[in-house]
Amino acid sequence: MAKEVILSGMQPTGKLHLGNLEGALRHWVQLQEDYEMYCCIVDWHALTSDFDHTSDLYDRIIEVTIDYLSAGLDSEKCAIFVQSQVKEHAELHLLFSMIVPTPWLERVPSYKEKSVELGLDSYGFLGYPLLQAADILIYKANWVPVGKDQLPHIELTREVARRFNGLYGEVFPEPQAKLSQFSGILGIDNRKMSKSYNNDITMGESEESTSKKISIMYTDPTKVHLGDPGHPDECPVYLLQKIYNPDHKTIHQRCSTGKLGCVECKKVCAEIVNKALKPIRQRRAELENNLPYVEKVLDLGAERARATAQKTMQEVRGAMKLK
Ligand code: TRP
Repeated sequence: MAKEVILSGMQPTGKLHLGNLEGALRHWVQLQEDYEMYCCIVDWHALTSDFDHTSDLYDRIIEVTIDYLSAGLDSEKCAIFVQSQVKEHAELHLLFSMIVPTPWLERVPSYKEKSVELGLDSYGFLGYPLLQAADILIYKANWVPVGKDQLPHIELTREVARRFNGLYGEVFPEPQAKLSQFSGILGIDNRKMSKSYNNDITMGESEESTSKKISIMYTDPTKVHLGDPGHPDECPVYLLQKIYNPDHKTIHQRCSTGKLGCVECKKVCAEIVNKALKPIRQRRAELENNLPYVEKVLDLGAERARATAQKTMQEVRGAMKLK
């Protein structure tokens, strides 16, 4: 029986962090075993906000690719590729733009929020979720692993598929979101871990820097002295313990009864995080010294993705009588 298809996408933000690793990559690494998998680095999407600084875009793509591979994505099992290297995404996006009413795009929550917050008013930015729909549907993906924030985009993708199928005949399956377990890794300032907040610990961070960042991490403000009972369930350091420390229950118990101070907890946490990341960081260092290999992975991935995308586009053109 043919495997079901998964398409995942990530913007080329540069070095990925523990939030990306635990919230997405680990999940993808598992999924590649059982699905036909496509991992797309969406550089055109990055241009919807970062069109004015493209000079380091390529470097950011390479960093993301290195992080993918160090986390365990396998280029044999999954096509790792750059969106702009498979031009068919642009063609499908254009065709979708003809059949989708503008109000469908104007009512997507991220459009309203970000257009005001970031002052984004381009035509391309309005079309962001439609390009995403093209990314997904061009591989006839059944599943899309995403965080909750992306659900409106998946819903729109389903509506686009229905609209297309209704107009021209069944071509696209309706994809579903696959939510990952952890979505809430917090940064050192207790906000969502994010490169743009500058509160992240990267996958490739040195051990020293990791320890330093954990040592200044936000903790429960009501726990002032060592003997004060803490509230681990509201503490970002405990969140790391929960993921990386097999013995996190003891930490929880000792913290909440005032037996464990934050300094000791953070020291343990840093050691455990560094130990867990060691193999990833070793692979990362090797790949950094072997860029031709990393580029070959992307070439090969694009070739594989293109073969599927071209097949779908033939069907699309046929259905639309475009020849
Ligand atoms: N919008 C996604 C994000 O910000 C990135 C993305 C683009 C994507 N195309 C995709 C995610 C296709 C999943 C599938 O995270």
